[in-house]
Amino acid sequence: MAEDLGFFSRDSFGLKSSKKNPLLLRMILLMLAMVCGIYICSICLKQIGVTPSMSRVFSVQVTKSSCPEPTVEPWEIPYLHYPNPETYSRDECACNPVRNFAILSMQRSGSGWFETLLNNHTNISSNGEIFSVKVRRSNASTIVETLDKIYNLDWLSSASKNECTAAVGLKWMLNQGVLQNHEEIVDYFKTHGVSAIFLFRRNLLRRIISVLANLYDRDARPLNGTHKSHVHSPHEAAILAKYKPSINSTLLIADLKRSEDMTEKALAYFNGTRHIILYYEDVVKNRTKLVEVQNFLRVPPMELKSRQVKIHQGKLSDQIENWQEVQQKLKGTHYESFLHDDYRK
Ligand SMILES: *[C@@H]1O[C@H](CO)[C@@H](O)[C@H](O)[C@H]1NC(C)=O
Ligand SMILES: *[C@@H]1O[C@H](CO)[C@@H](O)[C@H](O)[C@H]1NC(C)=O
Ligand SMILES: *[C@@H]1O[C@H](CO)[C@@H](O)[C@H](O)[C@H]1NC(C)=O
Ligand SMILES: *[C@@H]1O[C@H](CO)[C@@H](O)[C@H](O)[C@H]1NC(C)=O
Ligand SMILES: *[C@@H]1O[C@H](CO)[C@@H](O)[C@H](O)[C@H]1NC(C)=O
Ligand SMILES: *[C@@H]1O[C@H](CO)[C@@H](O)[C@H](O)[C@H]1NC(C)=O
Ligand SMILES: *[C@@H]1O[C@H](CO)[C@@H](O)[C@H](O)[C@H]1NC(C)=O
Repeated sequence: MAEDLGFFSRDSFGLKSSKKNPLLLRMILLMLAMVCGIYICSICLKQIGVTPSMSRVFSVQVTKSSCPEPTVEPWEIPYLHYPNPETYSRDECACNPVRNFAILSMQRSGSGWFETLLNNHTNISSNGEIFSVKVRRSNASTIVETLDKIYNLDWLSSASKNECTAAVGLKWMLNQGVLQNHEEIVDYFKTHGVSAIFLFRRNLLRRIISVLANLYDRDARPLNGTHKSHVHSPHEAAILAKYKPSINSTLLIADLKRSEDMTEKALAYFNGTRHIILYYEDVVKNRTKLVEVQNFLRVPPMELKSRQVKIHQGKLSDQIENWQEVQQKLKGTHYESFLHDDYRK
């Protein structure tokens, strides 16, 4: 009988005689068959791209076994997670599947406002601009370490919910290591089922005004000496909007081009990940966009509110000190539309 095992010698199992112990041998054969089965199965799954690694097959099975099967479509399964935080117990939420997401954006594109809207959902935790801290984005390993912590629900911030979290993520600016480490990050998103929410601004000229005004505010601090990137009252917004930046027209085209290039690069790099592309202007004008986002995150749609107030309202010509010059510079270029594009309420 022992010969049936082929490449295993009888002694390797410490069996002196198969006759004395046929039951044990049968058990070993059974075990071998099971291990082979699981191995072949995992290879198959790998080839059809369902699971990235063997360890995941096991971890998913282990965590799922105690939870009822969620009623989801098959394509969603790689995006469902059952994190087991080190810092606390999920208790009654342990069987609520969690979706991982990241808001990928650029400074002054409305992502702060957008994030407050998401965090107004009972089941969404978006933990803020975590990679604004440089050491966390030093290299791919610190980035992965940080992401692991966030997606394991071990990142405790004001966005952490007492309710059952159904979607967890962060706000991440493209110039905070996203483009630099795109290969590792795309790989991480694919293996950890992270969905990307791109949030861009259509009118990049308005983004420049916001960047300049925010830089000015950092130094001048007209609001009682505090620097505020976002405000919560029309009164505060009116004070901040009083400042009219003068735009360096020599650098303007190059600046617009740089923003545009970053956007294009990001979309190309992350094209293979599950993603949605949103524009700030569209979300402002059309609140059903928020329903689209909630559907994307597979959370039950709710009405979402933010206390933030928009700082710059109305006509562009009233917001730029050297409007004539800027107009001259952009006329005839493919950025000309930025001059006309005004908000309609
Ligand atoms: C959402 O916003 C409303 C109105 O500001 C507030 O009453 C509610 O508590 C918020 N919900 C969450 C989960 O933050
Ligand atoms: C990554 O950065 C961290 C923190 O700066 C450093 O301790 C670590 O050695 C770096 N790792 C690699 C692989 O460069
Ligand atoms: C949202 O949170 C509530 C309260 O904890 C919970 O009952 C519900 O199941 C959660 N929804 C999802 C989709 O996880
Ligand atoms: C400055 O502080 C005072 C008192 O707290 C408040 O009444 C006033 O509105 C503040 N001004 C601004 C511009 O926020
Ligand atoms: C615009 O930027 C260029 C290059 O940095 C600089 O030489 C020039 O003085 C700036 N112009 C104004 C009006 O600040
Ligand atoms: C993303 O992929 C789709 C389909 O493969 C392709 O049509 C599209 O042009 C790509 N977009 C970018 C920005 O690369
Ligand atoms: C608002 O957004 C929804 C969802 O993206 C879309 O279906 C609808 O056509 C939009 N409505 C307008 C008026 O743009």
